Amino acid sequence: MTTFLSGIQSTGLQHLGNYFGAIRHHIELAREDGEHFYFIADYHALTTTPKPEELRERVRETAVTYLALGLDAEKACLFRQSDVPEVTELTWLLSCVTGMGLLERAHSYKDKTAKGAKPSVGLFTYPILMAADILAYDSNVVPVGKDQIQHVEMAQDMAGHFNNVYGDGSEGGAVFQRPEARMPKEAAHAKVLGLDGEKMSKSYGNDLWIFETGKKLKKAINRIATDSRPPEEAKDPAGILLLDFLKLFAEAGESAEWCERVQAGGADAPGYGHIKVRLVELIEEHFREARARRDELLRDPGEVDRQLAAGALVARARAAATRDRALAACGLR
Ligand code: TYM
Repeated sequence: MTTFLSGIQSTGLQHLGNYFGAIRHHIELAREDGEHFYFIADYHALTTTPKPEELRERVRETAVTYLALGLDAEKACLFRQSDVPEVTELTWLLSCVTGMGLLERAHSYKDKTAKGAKPSVGLFTYPILMAADILAYDSNVVPVGKDQIQHVEMAQDMAGHFNNVYGDGSEGGAVFQRPEARMPKEAAHAKVLGLDGEKMSKSYGNDLWIFETGKKLKKAINRIATDSRPPEEAKDPAGILLLDFLKLFAEAGESAEWCERVQAGGADAPGYGHIKVRLVELIEEHFREARARRDELLRDPGEVDRQLAAGALVARARAAATRDRALAACGLR
């Protein structure tokens, strides 16, 4: 049976990159056969030292986001990372077989510190905690966006190192299973661009919250980078960020029509303002039902906490078994 696992940090509100690159993919996969573990990475969120009250809120908000968007919590185990402290034990075991060189190659660490994040030990060893998350549940498939691929590859390396040192070398004697990353099929979903055309990211300030609506949504859409060419000028649609956004939400036929009109130019060609108006409508419509479900769920936080607690029980039992296996393999039991 295939085991799917992925996590999402609770550092801020989830954005369209998280939605297309991860959450929507997770929800679709959870309809397939197999085991499904999805968690809120609150230990990882500590690398940005959030305010405690804010972190607590964000964890619940992230769970609400998954449920509102349609995750079936009966089929998928939704839980909070810190409810499974076994992963921190596994982190230590893995850190003892992980070379500094491996971590020094991590793009994400270089990227985050270049953008002003404090270069803490936690931020540096972040990929080891992530590998522990992945390996603790014997996951085979890790559905993530493009930016997390390197981290999954590092988890593969760490599993391999640990197995080499402590496995008995037989086919069935591996301590950890080798996980494989899986990105959404469409490249535009695996790496969603932000309002400025760079990768959408909370830390770049170019993100759009999934449930943004009304005036704030309009304001955000107005921020999408455009140029000053007039509507009648014929343009290559490939270089127009606004059309990339539209393609995320419009049916294929409608997107093609907008692109053709932009490419043709002339008196009937739409201006960027027109496209923005339509984009706002499409986003409002796309998340309308989920937004209503979110409001309902927020009215009953006890129910959300109950679901997270139920998920934690299942997840913890699984991670404890892996932890015991790993401790025994390295002589601590
Ligand atoms: P995080 O919280 O940064 O992102 C959560 C998920 O969203 C995807 N994503 C994107 N996909 C497409 N376009 C974008 N612009 C975009 N931005 C983010 C990410 O690829 C990810 O799938 N380290 C992880 C959390 C984590 C984890 C794990 C993931 C902790 N342990 C174990 C998988 C397995 C992170 O910070 O993701």
